[in-house]
Parts: sequence; C-alpha cells; structure tokens
Amino acid sequence: MSRGYHTLRVADVIDETHDARSFVLDVPPELQSAYGYRAGQFLTFQIPAEGETLLRCYSLSSAPETDGRLKVTVKRVDAGRGSNWFNDCVRPGDPIAVLPPAGLFVLRESAAPLCLFAGGSGITPVISLIKSALETTGRRILLVYANRDARSVIFRAELDALELRHPDRLRVVHHLDDTQGFLEAGAVRPLVAGIEAAHFYICGPGPFMDVVESVLVSTGVPRECIFIERFLSLPSHEEVEAENVVAAQEVEGRAHPAEVLLHLDGSSHRVPYHAGDTVLETARKGGLEPPFACEDGYCGSCAARLVRGEVVMHKNEVFSQAEVAAGNILTCQARPCSGELEVSYD
Ligand SMILES: Cc1cc2nc3c(=O)[nH]c(=O)nc-3n(C[C@H](O)[C@H](O)[C@H](O)COP(=O)(O)OP(=O)(O)OC[C@H]3O[C@@H](n4cnc5c(N)ncnc54)[C@H](O)[C@@H]3O)c2cc1C
Ligand code: FES
Repeated sequence: MSRGYHTLRVADVIDETHDARSFVLDVPPELQSAYGYRAGQFLTFQIPAEGETLLRCYSLSSAPETDGRLKVTVKRVDAGRGSNWFNDCVRPGDPIAVLPPAGLFVLRESAAPLCLFAGGSGITPVISLIKSALETTGRRILLVYANRDARSVIFRAELDALELRHPDRLRVVHHLDDTQGFLEAGAVRPLVAGIEAAHFYICGPGPFMDVVESVLVSTGVPRECIFIERFLSLPSHEEVEAENVVAAQEVEGRAHPAEVLLHLDGSSHRVPYHAGDTVLETARKGGLEPPFACEDGYCGSCAARLVRGEVVMHKNEVFSQAEVAAGNILTCQARPCSGELEVSYD
C-alpha cells in the first residue's frame, strides 16, 4: 500500500438510487484524528480494477457534526472503472485503502447566506455542507439540485426531512432535465437575484457548472465568493510523469536552491533539492510524508504556504490570484525558481 494510505473497513453499503450507493466506513480509534474532516472534503481510494490500481476521489456525504461515521456516495459512470467497481464489488466487511480527508470545498468563516448548486452526484459534498451549516451556523441556505429525472435524485428523503426541520433556513429547488431541459442561464438568473452577497458552492457536470459560474460572474458575484468542486478521475501515474517532464522544462535554466526548508507536522527539515522537481517530490524524496492526492493541480490536498523564495506553478485549479499572491501554493505543481526556498505545510 502506498504511503499515507490506511486500510479502513466498509461498515455498511446503502442503496441510494438505481445507480448510486453509499459506503459507510469504520475508522479504528487509533486513526480517528487522522480521519477527522470538515464538511465538503473528500477521500481518495486505491481501487484494484482491471488489473491495475486506480486512484479515485469521493466526497464525504456525511458531516462531522451530524453523522457518527464517514460515508461516501458513488454514482455509476457509463463504462467507468472505479465507480462501477465500487457499486458492483464492495460489500460490508471489505477492507479498502484510503487516504485521510483532503480538499478546500469547505465552509468559510462567514454569516453570508449560502447558495448551493448541485448536479447529480455533485450533491455529495453539498449535502455535507448543508448539514454542517444547519448545525453550526445560523446561515440561510438555498439549494438548487439538478438531476436527469426523478429516480436519479440522491438523498431525496434526507433533504425533504432537513427542509421540514428548518423551513425558515433551508429551501430546496429541484430541477429535472427530463421535464425542464438542461438548466440554462435564464433559469439560474432569477434564482440568484437578490442574493448576490451569498457564498456560492457549485458541484456537478462540467456544462452545468459552466452555466452557473458564468451567470454568477456576469451578475457581479466576486470570484472569491464562488467555490467549485470538479469531479474528475485522477490521472494515472504514467500521465503524471509525462506532464512532469513538460513542466520541468518550463523552469529549465532558472535559479533554484540547493536545499529546501520544509515545515511539516510541527517539525522543520532541510531537504536536498534536485533541479526540475516539485516541492512535493522534494519532500517525498527527503523521506517526509506530506499530504497529496491528484498530483494534477486541482484537488488542493497538497496545499502549503510559501514562506520565502519563489515558485512557478505549472497548473492551478484551486487558488485565486489573490490567494496565490498571499503565498498559497500547490506543492505538486510548484517548482522553485529562486536561490532559497522555505515552505510550510502547517
Ligand atoms: C474531489 C473529487 C470528489 C469526487 N466526489 C465524487 C462523489 O462524491 N461521488 C461520485 O460519484 N464521484 C465523485 N468524483 C468523481 C470520481 O472520482 C470519478 O471521477 C468517477 O467516479 C468516475 O470514475 P470511473 O473510474 O468510474 O470512470 P473512468 O474509468 O475514469 O472513466 C470516466 C469516463 O471516461 C471514459 N473513459 C475512460 N477511459 C477512457 C479512454 N481511455 N478513452 C475515452 N474515454 C475514456 C469512461 O467511459 C467514462 O465515461 C469526485 C472526483 C473528485 C476529483
Ligand atoms: S495533489 Fe491535488 S492539487 Fe496537488
């Protein structure tokens, strides 16, 4: 098993719809703190499918404040290797290799109302945010939830019950493609009119997210109030390696340090630096165990803070320009381009 992964046991498998199941996980007492999480985060699983080990991320549909155990919900994708393996092969009692929770699709400290857009399986992190916000804040919540048809609606009963329990705070608007067509800009605009000061969270199929995001931007919602989770399959190890070769060429000939000073888990380490390596590779070659998942610049698991020096990031689907300017980096994408470098994961 790769570094950072632990074997957890599947405690329960729940049929949610005809093509989605939830998987409840048991975390032994000694791993409870490693698997503590915030609503909206995800787990990365090692999946033994078709003779190779795939890495796939699944968001937690449970919330730490309301659910005793970790739960993920996996919807089948046509010809998808990981999602069908989960739905066809995983049974209660099975062991499964899982990385600790990661991700930045979480609630920010604020009293602003929440406006959440979920499409299909994109409801998983969103229902977690809803449960957490209802439990721990007084924020008002609008959920716009799009699905292909009525039988594809995951968590219908749970959402109905939450709406009944919090009629003054939670409003759920369902959108069904088979009767209403795909959600279009003209339908999104009236839903967000008057709540432009909300925090917006979007998770669903690409075209769905593009429509919602473009309406929000065109109505003047600041970028830093829009949070997006993209459900993509992680690239294979070979794809990551090939991309790394291209990215390393981008910094060829630029200054780089002889060693990097890294702060991780309360300790400081001076680690040798090899030209072309990312900060993440440097940390791992130096024997450290920093967090990471996608190695492709979009999950945010490997985030750290630049304390001193400069880096070039090959890809960045996580941080806004302002967040980068404030020193936030993705260590899987960051390559040093200064004579000294200090980075803190803490
Ligand atoms: C942070 C995060 C959280 C996520 N949370 C969830 C969640 O809560 N629930 C959920 O259901 N999903 C979630 N996902 C998506 C999930 O990780 C997988 O991407 C999804 O399950 C599909 O994986 P798969 O292995 O089944 O499909 P894949 O095998 O990766 O295939 C995906 C699609 O590509 C096509 N395809 C595959 N290989 C090829 C090829 N060589 N050429 C052409 N087409 C190809 C397949 O036919 C299929 O349509 C999340 C993703 C991320 C990044
Ligand atoms: S590991 Fe996913 S962004 Fe770096």
